[in-house]
Amino acid sequence: MDELKFPESFAWGAATAAYQIEGGWDTDGKGLNVWDTFTHQGGDRVLKNHTGDVACGSYTLWEEDLKCIKQLGLTHYRFSLSWSRLLPDGTTGFINQKGVEYYNKLIDSLLAMNVTPLVTLYHFDMPQALEDQGGWSSEKTADVFEQYAKFCFSTFGDRVKLWITVNEPAMVAKLGYEQAIFAPGKKETGFGAYRSAHNMIKAHAKAWHMYNTFFKEKQKGLVSIALDSDWAEPLDPNSDGDKEACDRYQQFRLNWFANPIFIDGDYPAVMKSEISRNSKEEGLMTSRLPEFTDEEKKIIKGTADFFCLNYYTSRNVRPLSTKPSGPSYNSDTGAEGIKDPNWPEAGVEWLAVVPWGLRKLLAYIKNTFGDPDIYITENGFAQSDPPVLQDVQRWGYFEETLTEVLKAIKQDGVKLKGYFVWSLLDNFEWNSGYNVRFGLFHVDFNQPNLPRTPYYSAIEYAKVVKENGLISK
Ligand code: NOJ
Repeated sequence: MDELKFPESFAWGAATAAYQIEGGWDTDGKGLNVWDTFTHQGGDRVLKNHTGDVACGSYTLWEEDLKCIKQLGLTHYRFSLSWSRLLPDGTTGFINQKGVEYYNKLIDSLLAMNVTPLVTLYHFDMPQALEDQGGWSSEKTADVFEQYAKFCFSTFGDRVKLWITVNEPAMVAKLGYEQAIFAPGKKETGFGAYRSAHNMIKAHAKAWHMYNTFFKEKQKGLVSIALDSDWAEPLDPNSDGDKEACDRYQQFRLNWFANPIFIDGDYPAVMKSEISRNSKEEGLMTSRLPEFTDEEKKIIKGTADFFCLNYYTSRNVRPLSTKPSGPSYNSDTGAEGIKDPNWPEAGVEWLAVVPWGLRKLLAYIKNTFGDPDIYITENGFAQSDPPVLQDVQRWGYFEETLTEVLKAIKQDGVKLKGYFVWSLLDNFEWNSGYNVRFGLFHVDFNQPNLPRTPYYSAIEYAKVVKENGLISK
């Protein structure tokens, strides 16, 4: 059944992130990061005050993770490096050799199993020492990140050929620096998200150039950034107001980062005009959205070797019904996303299951950002606690999604190179702690040895990987 097959050498993967799985928060010289601090502050920042102190214990149980990867037959594994495990204060002034050894073991073992690593440099866990100096609010962090990236390329780049600089900068910016929902818990409404995003874009561009100039020729790898996006549809397709709101919703999320990096080094026009107009009305002399200089635009433009998309859900969009008081990212966007009541929910309130939204988003990316090679670096469905091992319905969501992905490849001509399930394991799901379970493998957090057990979805996913295609019924 050829029509169910994926292209040859399609990358089949699963993804994790350091803070969400490793534990070992103060082991072997690891420095503190913002999530250590944030979770240790308690106060219900995270459901039931869960922390990542132990998580899946992957710092010691990494071989158990390898067994899961093997059982799935994955061709690729996406994980992130803990910045403060490698560089405890975030700078190359002191290198924690134990951290280097840990990732060396992991990378070497993956390669020995014929699994290609896709490595993220920063997945939400800024070293606390850098946060104390401003974190992403400070432009200096972009320079420190560049040095961290250089260190990682020179230490691991002989073996790692696929790199992601920053994971989901929009989430870090909005939730971490504007709404205080994520670490570092800053609430700089109307400013924080834009400023931190600005510095993350610069950090990404510097890291890409560092690789391109000093490593690429020898190491022959690729560098990108992982961007998250919903698919957005106008609530009423015949309403101009809804159509405009829908466009803003998209521009303020995906294009915020993808325009500068993939198109012209600059923010989307609608972001510039809306934020500037609102800033003027607020009596400010300059826009709350920082500007890139012409020189910076040239540096930022074209700094991704492929497109990494994290997709989970879709929204129907209309203009904001009530404008929030005071300046904010939300009021600048002036749009709100609504879940269609017919869309099923997967384990967590925000995750409406909309497989066709992914197909549309992939086509949008193809048409808007120069038909790049695309990897879906995250896609997944959760179960809430207590989960069932026979997650038949959840596997159904994966199958529907992969069917849409196939259509994107075969009917829409999207150059899709790979698909990564979020996540290999149940893990620390940020504010939801361990109550929202995204794993292909169940982790029993109540047992000291944190046993991993495959869900039905894992067994079925392994078949798809093996077939390099969907199984006909
Ligand atoms: C995106 C993030 O990158 C990941 O850390 C998170 O667990 C998943 N979404 C699910 O919310």
